[in-house]
Amino acid sequence: MDQPQNRVFSGVQPTGNLHLGNYLGAIRNFVGLQDTHECIYCVVDMHAITVWQDPKELAANTREVAAAYIAAGIDPERHIVFNQSKVAAHAELAWILNCVARIGWLNRMTQFKDKAGKDREKASVGLYAYPVLMAADILVYRATHVPVGEDQKQHLELARDTAQKFNNDFEAPDFFPQPEPLIMGPATRVMSLRDGTKKMSKSDPSDLSRITMRDSSDDIAKKIRKAQTDPEPLPETLEGLEGRAGADNLVGIYAALAGKSKAEVLAEFAGAQFSVFKPALADLAVEKLSPITNEMKRLMDDRAYIDGVLEKGAARARAIADPVVARVRELVGFI
Ligand code: AMP
Ligand code: TRP
Repeated sequence: MDQPQNRVFSGVQPTGNLHLGNYLGAIRNFVGLQDTHECIYCVVDMHAITVWQDPKELAANTREVAAAYIAAGIDPERHIVFNQSKVAAHAELAWILNCVARIGWLNRMTQFKDKAGKDREKASVGLYAYPVLMAADILVYRATHVPVGEDQKQHLELARDTAQKFNNDFEAPDFFPQPEPLIMGPATRVMSLRDGTKKMSKSDPSDLSRITMRDSSDDIAKKIRKAQTDPEPLPETLEGLEGRAGADNLVGIYAALAGKSKAEVLAEFAGAQFSVFKPALADLAVEKLSPITNEMKRLMDDRAYIDGVLEKGAARARAIADPVVARVRELVGFI
């Protein structure tokens, strides 16, 4: 079985409220890898159901993430776009890897602790095992590179450990490659617009905390205007942003949208008040996001097209994953 040197896999959960952090931390980077890598981009609906999802919304949200991928510039003809539940190999490999990964490894996962909250006993078993399914997603394609936001780094480490333990346990050196995380750009961790110390997230109860891929230009401008900052003007250097989480976040967002470094943004805006910087950021955000959100709306109205992309993508995904699972079954001793 040949091992590709540059195969990318990544996924986004269809849990609604797709936001600027998902775009700048993940989806935009997916687009940039298409010329140099063979890419597989998944809508991870099986991960989504680790917390309750209304079935009708799950279907709509799955199509929305697929539309976002395509609207952002992912080409589903050249690369693979599909939703996870259509390819049974993910679940099959996940079970085997559940028997390879150790409870001690999962107990260290900070995202589980955050998501399960205080009443951990009531969290689903799936939420706990989530990182192992993620490892299976990546390894079932023997992917070499995984573009993600910073919050996924720990999960990637677990995928690497799981790959290595599988290879050792089943005496199959190099069967699963060690997947490399690609955590790229100035916005690997976009923060809440209401609290610069918290990650921008789909589940924050405040709609003002995030810019979503459904927001109108007016919504975007309003949310940036109301973003939490401080009374000081922008500093000249990066050190001047220390201890100013809200300001740092807006500078990072500007940099990512403009394709510049934070230092370059400060060189341009040093000494400016937020009354000047925020409108400039709002204009830039609208300029960069509205072509994508408009195209997303257009695509979502064409359900047959989206469903066709997902169906064809899944068939191509199965063609890669099924032989890998067949070999895993042999290695494990299943007859
Ligand atoms: P999720 O919404 O959890 O499925 O995340 C999908 C992708 O977006 C993953 O690669 C995350 O690391 C990335 N991501 C989510 N939230 C943020 C954020 N606030 N800043 C940067 N990247 C993020
Ligand atoms: N856990 C990732 C997130 O919440 C989504 C995901 C699932 C993923 N499987 C993956 C990302 C495989 C990269 C590779 O953001």
